[in-house]
Amino acid sequence: MFAYQNDGRFFAQAARGLEELAGAELAELGAKDIEITGGGLHFHGDAAGLYRINYCSRLVSRVLAPLAAFPCPSDQALYEAARAMEWQALLAPEKTFAVFANVRESRIDHAHFAALRLKDAIADHFREHCGRRPDVDTENPDVWINLAVRRDRAVISLDTSGGSLHRRGYRVQSVPAPLQETLAAAMVRLSGWQGERPLVDPFCGSGTILAEAFMHYCRIPAAFKKAKFGFENLPDFAAGVWADVRRASDAARREMPELLIRGSDSDRQAMDAARRNLREIAGTRGVPLERKDFHDLPGIPDAMIICNPPYGIRVGALDETRLLYKEFGDFLKQRCQGSTAYILCGNLDLVGAIGLKPSRRFVLYNGPIECRLLKIEIF
Ligand SMILES: C[S@@+](CC[C@H](N)C(=O)[O-])C[C@H]1O[C@@H](n2cnc3c(N)ncnc32)[C@H](O)[C@@H]1O
Repeated sequence: MFAYQNDGRFFAQAARGLEELAGAELAELGAKDIEITGGGLHFHGDAAGLYRINYCSRLVSRVLAPLAAFPCPSDQALYEAARAMEWQALLAPEKTFAVFANVRESRIDHAHFAALRLKDAIADHFREHCGRRPDVDTENPDVWINLAVRRDRAVISLDTSGGSLHRRGYRVQSVPAPLQETLAAAMVRLSGWQGERPLVDPFCGSGTILAEAFMHYCRIPAAFKKAKFGFENLPDFAAGVWADVRRASDAARREMPELLIRGSDSDRQAMDAARRNLREIAGTRGVPLERKDFHDLPGIPDAMIICNPPYGIRVGALDETRLLYKEFGDFLKQRCQGSTAYILCGNLDLVGAIGLKPSRRFVLYNGPIECRLLKIEIF
């Protein structure tokens, strides 16, 4: 039997700023003994919990099952420890695998090199024990191996998600500065919106917030389009339990009343992308999309407005964006009475330009960009 002795203890990766929120979500999905650490959360889970979290979590990026942890002062130490692991219970010569690594504050300081050494160790292990080795496939491997080296200590894990969960599969067409799906889902969750009033994104770009809000309302599992998960390769994978989890999660789905969610954007390509992406999710025909500059909208009263306007970093210049923020603030004041706005601002210099006092500010990250999510009540 493989040294898969993590005793049901897993590690869920979550973007900086989302740890607390992800902890609450993991608890709802059945995780126990949740502990927040840098980069994510440790938790205990049984098979059903692990499968449910991978299938339904909107906030975590991947769930790792630690296989081995050991001191790793050099690439040779990594190679030797990894070569001695019992890989045959997890992998077979006719399967494919890939290694993804990250290294920090360690003598091994190249992630790609660390991944190569681990790959060599696995290949040499198989040559020695089976006379043949599994091939590497970095696009669509059967088994995803994750290596983290921190302060000269290595943890080798099986990626039970099988690739990042933020890639839901509906974004088939993108725009220059799309939101990460997990972050869009976090914005919807932080807003507390449950469908009691319309949700509107007047800067909808490729439609990420609309898609996440729709899936949240309709209780569609976040990974409903994912064909294969890494946990299906665990030595103790229980196909019957997975089928039950999937069936129960799918059965929770509900219909959305027409027009409850809507979006607009001034850019033609963004509109095309949003239309194309939403078509990937069944039932979104009741989500109207309109190509319109927000200045030309009649107003958005009594609604939940969730959006991320241009940052002035990646799209558009800063002065123009400052003016856009000021005008959007005026639009909110004059034409959005009774609404609550959650505005993700990816440039801290722009936070004041909106001219409205936020009742709350959340620190979030869109990839490497530090953002503020501003909650603004419009009276
Ligand atoms: C940061 S992107 C939004 C990305 C989107 N959340 C996504 O995930 O794809 C900002 C969007 O604002 C749109 N935009 C810029 N100026 C606008 C305006 N005056 N009215 C409406 N949309 C505008 C851009 O076309 C762009 O799609």
